[in-house]
Amino acid sequence: MAIKLNNSVRWVGKIDWELRRFHGEELSTHHGSSYNSYLVQDQKTVLIDTVWGPFAQEFVNDLKREIDLHQIDYIVANHGEPDHSGALPLLMHEIPGTPIYCTANAVKSLKGQYHADWNFKVVKTGERLSLGTKDLIFIEAPMLHWPDTMFSYLTEDNILFSNDGFGQHYASHQMFNDLVNQEELYYEAMKYYANILTPFSKMVTKKIAEILALNLPLEMICPSHGIIWRQNPLQIVERYQKWAQDYQENQITFVYDTMWNSTRRMAEAIAEGIKQADRQVEVKLFNSARADKNDILTEVFRSKAVLVGSPTVNKGVLSSIGSFLEEIKGLSFKNKKAAAFGAYGWSGESMATISKGLSEAGFNVVSDGLRLLWNPDAESLARCADFGKEFAASCL
Ligand code: FEO
Repeated sequence: MAIKLNNSVRWVGKIDWELRRFHGEELSTHHGSSYNSYLVQDQKTVLIDTVWGPFAQEFVNDLKREIDLHQIDYIVANHGEPDHSGALPLLMHEIPGTPIYCTANAVKSLKGQYHADWNFKVVKTGERLSLGTKDLIFIEAPMLHWPDTMFSYLTEDNILFSNDGFGQHYASHQMFNDLVNQEELYYEAMKYYANILTPFSKMVTKKIAEILALNLPLEMICPSHGIIWRQNPLQIVERYQKWAQDYQENQITFVYDTMWNSTRRMAEAIAEGIKQADRQVEVKLFNSARADKNDILTEVFRSKAVLVGSPTVNKGVLSSIGSFLEEIKGLSFKNKKAAAFGAYGWSGESMATISKGLSEAGFNVVSDGLRLLWNPDAESLARCADFGKEFAASCL
């Protein structure tokens, strides 16, 4: 069912309450998501983005209840990824020839995915599309998060359609930021940033500065996932500015895997040492084989330091830690200290493997780490606590 944003703009997207994995199986979405599409009616009518392919028929059927499809003068594709373009083939079958406004890179991604020669109109930053009494202004936003991404700004109504930027995987019938649980909303917004946008933080900073310099009045930010920011919409822009500046809180996060609990016991003893040295710091422990990968990465994002542990297996690390090291390399976290630890029985390579992985991922490895032979006894656990105290001191 459509939701009216004001007298000329309606949300016509799809709330996906069932979604629990996104980007294939890569990303967890505990609160579902939505694929936001917007219908703007002035003297001309424009549809901004569509929905994911599995909902294409539903989307087109619902849209027909809102408007005669032939009254749609223009389509804007802010981004070509299938969760926003998936209904285009069905829609274009109904209204072939309708111009699709998008970036040059979006033409590549849309053609590459759908192999259709639609009526593309390539736009660049600053170009306007007149809707009669209002204009859409296009702002290219490459790498936020694909090279083809752009934002669209609706004059007079002062709405920024920001596509993935400022979005969250968060299903809610409330649809607006002032009506939903703030803790859930901000957790999902941070998780989205941490897991998708972190590698592009420099571009985030630059793009936000560029948009703010335009001095455009802003009444709403309408992303392509989750709720719409209508109450103080700049709050999420300010939050992004902070998150993009090598963000950290006073938190140290442990990420470890364990076979026979020796590495787990090391983690807990090291954590105890940290707490003895610094009562203020938040310390959180995650077994990477059991906790949700994307939740762990969100905790790493908000941390000033991480401790990563694994026993030695086949001269390397357990697979969940191997996967974690690969993930953090791609995400390019900045401004975080780190160290490795782990138990071993025979050869003991895990600590060096983890330290190398952390360094390659851009973490500041502040110690050689700690490895212990076999199951830690009282003396070994005391060494762990001392190691924790030293690590805490290096993080002050
Ligand atoms: Fe929500 Fe990059 O697609």
